[in-house]
Amino acid sequence: MPTITVDGRELEVQGKTFVLEVLRANGIKVPTLCYHPALKPSGSCKLCAVEVVLGSGRSATLLSCVLKVKDGMSIRTQGEAVERARSRAFRNLLQMAPLAPVIRELAAEYGIDLGPLPDGCIRCSLCIRVCGEIVGVGALKMEKREEKSFVVPIAGLCIGCGTCANICPTGAVRQEEKDGVRTILIRNEIIGRHILEKCEACGKLFATRKFLLHVRERMAPHPDVKEHHLYCPTCAKLFSDRVKASSKVRPL
Ligand code: SF4
Ligand code: FES
Repeated sequence: MPTITVDGRELEVQGKTFVLEVLRANGIKVPTLCYHPALKPSGSCKLCAVEVVLGSGRSATLLSCVLKVKDGMSIRTQGEAVERARSRAFRNLLQMAPLAPVIRELAAEYGIDLGPLPDGCIRCSLCIRVCGEIVGVGALKMEKREEKSFVVPIAGLCIGCGTCANICPTGAVRQEEKDGVRTILIRNEIIGRHILEKCEACGKLFATRKFLLHVRERMAPHPDVKEHHLYCPTCAKLFSDRVKASSKVRPL
């Protein structure tokens, strides 16, 4: 009776053509996604890799679904080489079908970590840097969660300026405005939520109170401005152009 050795166990292979069939018949699990017992194997998904021991310390990683059984062959379904091949195969599949849950579920079953679900963030840290370097608030930071880095808010610091949302190249940080409230979000985490103030001139909702206070505290007052007004950028420019124009009119 022809036999093969799998992970140190000797198994009969009578009537089986491919190694994967022997593994399945004996309850030995290897991941597969392109295999179907009613169809000829295609070797497409590359998940079913096993290590074939060739002797004198040599081995080769081959696909068990298309690997023909040979009497006396020795197979390993675990170990570094197999894990490397599986991991590579899972990652390739994930690139083609990032939203297919089966790939992550199967990888987890075999102890392969495929990293966090894509959240649209490329970890460029522009949002963190602009908030610290230009806005001067530092309401965002990079934090490790289960060994992976994520942009996260520092509670209570956001002033709702929206600079992070404007600078984010991928749209991972979002700004939503509804019923006079501005919300800044990353993934489904709220970075800040603020009531918007109206422009004193045109009445348009344009900035958050915290942002306006922050600007007032940080900027030296304009020498020509006697009192503070809440003007949106459009009205502020209009007034400033008018002031400039009137200062240019010289008496005859
Ligand atoms: S959220 Fe946007 S700006 Fe911030 S690190 Fe991610 S991609 Fe870059
Ligand atoms: S089961 Fe997909 S390559 Fe073998």
